[in-house]
Amino acid sequence: MTIVGARPQFVKAAAVSRAIAEHAQLQETIVHTGQHFDDNMSKVFFDEMSIPVPHFNLDIHSLNHGAMTGRMLEELEKLIISEQPAILMVYGDTNSTLAGALAARKLQIPVAHVEAGLRSFEMRMPEEVNRILTDRISSLLFCPTAQAITNLEREGFANFDSKIVRTGDVMYDAALFYSAKAEAKSKVMQSETLTANKFVLATIHRQENTDDPANLQSIISGLNKVNEHLKVIMPVHPRTRKMLMSQKLQPEFMLIDPVGYFDMIQLLRNCTMVVTDSGGLQKEAFFFNKFCITVREQTEWVELVECGCNELAGANGQRIVEIFNTMLGRKFEVQEPLYGHGDAGSIIARELAEY
Ligand code: UD1
Repeated sequence: MTIVGARPQFVKAAAVSRAIAEHAQLQETIVHTGQHFDDNMSKVFFDEMSIPVPHFNLDIHSLNHGAMTGRMLEELEKLIISEQPAILMVYGDTNSTLAGALAARKLQIPVAHVEAGLRSFEMRMPEEVNRILTDRISSLLFCPTAQAITNLEREGFANFDSKIVRTGDVMYDAALFYSAKAEAKSKVMQSETLTANKFVLATIHRQENTDDPANLQSIISGLNKVNEHLKVIMPVHPRTRKMLMSQKLQPEFMLIDPVGYFDMIQLLRNCTMVVTDSGGLQKEAFFFNKFCITVREQTEWVELVECGCNELAGANGQRIVEIFNTMLGRKFEVQEPLYGHGDAGSIIARELAEY
């Protein structure tokens, strides 16, 4: 049984569910918690990426963290009892991840965690809490990077009853698999009248950036300045849209509705640079050889910073502009396989079957 609920998990599930379907010994039941529910935050990914339709949709969303996680826990427990899965698998670090892992663990169902071992070392992030707790109660820890394994070892996981596997990153599998399809199908460059290599792709949705008025204001003013040099385009997450409206902020750059995976791939392929606070987009920038300015104080993807492809600006508009100016003159040359070889999904399927 796999649990998905939020946008990045649909991308991850696309890579893994395909590998599971190809494995003779495995059968998958997909549960959508409903955390993301707008068509352009959810349905479009299932359609484009041919992810099997979830067997169950719990329709739980738009609640405070405790209420959301609690309701998911309650409903998932019922489902696990009735479906009796051999293993329950969760992705990433969202409330859906934690609820799924906790529900299964308490019913003695082993938990597999895809994207295990990542740490920002910032306990104020809800995602950091979710991932630490999920890792600790998982039996199979699928790590995307060398750093993720080091993090687990430092926390004493060698002494726990869990298996750590380096799989590579399932998002890299997805980027490789859908790249050509995205190029053939996406019309976003035409519909938004964009010119290749003449725009900056920006996304902002983290709670610490959107819900703190000073942070959001500083980020927007930085992007406004960048926009004076190079057009900035931002697909706007619903959380950010709400906060821009409630804080009466009117960015001078281009805002569009959230885009599907194919459009996002095309925007990545064609942009000059990425500015984001998303975990996934930082890596996707790297997959498409683009520099990334990360609008956070820390990142889980430290290898990107170490190789010079990514720089941390914090929620600081001035820093964003400074880094933008230095990155503009640089050439992207890193070619290391930091995230594996695009076979993370099949490694995970094999490990699940063996387990
Ligand atoms: C969640 C995850 C985050 C992940 C992100 C990807 C947690 C704690 N956070 O954050 O790790 O990076 O998803 O997008 O689980 N909303 C809509 N329509 C939607 C989805 C959300 O209007 O389709 C609204 C919600 O009602 C809520 C706000 O956006 O008011 C935030 O949604 P929520 O699921 O709480 O968190 P995200 O910011 O999306």
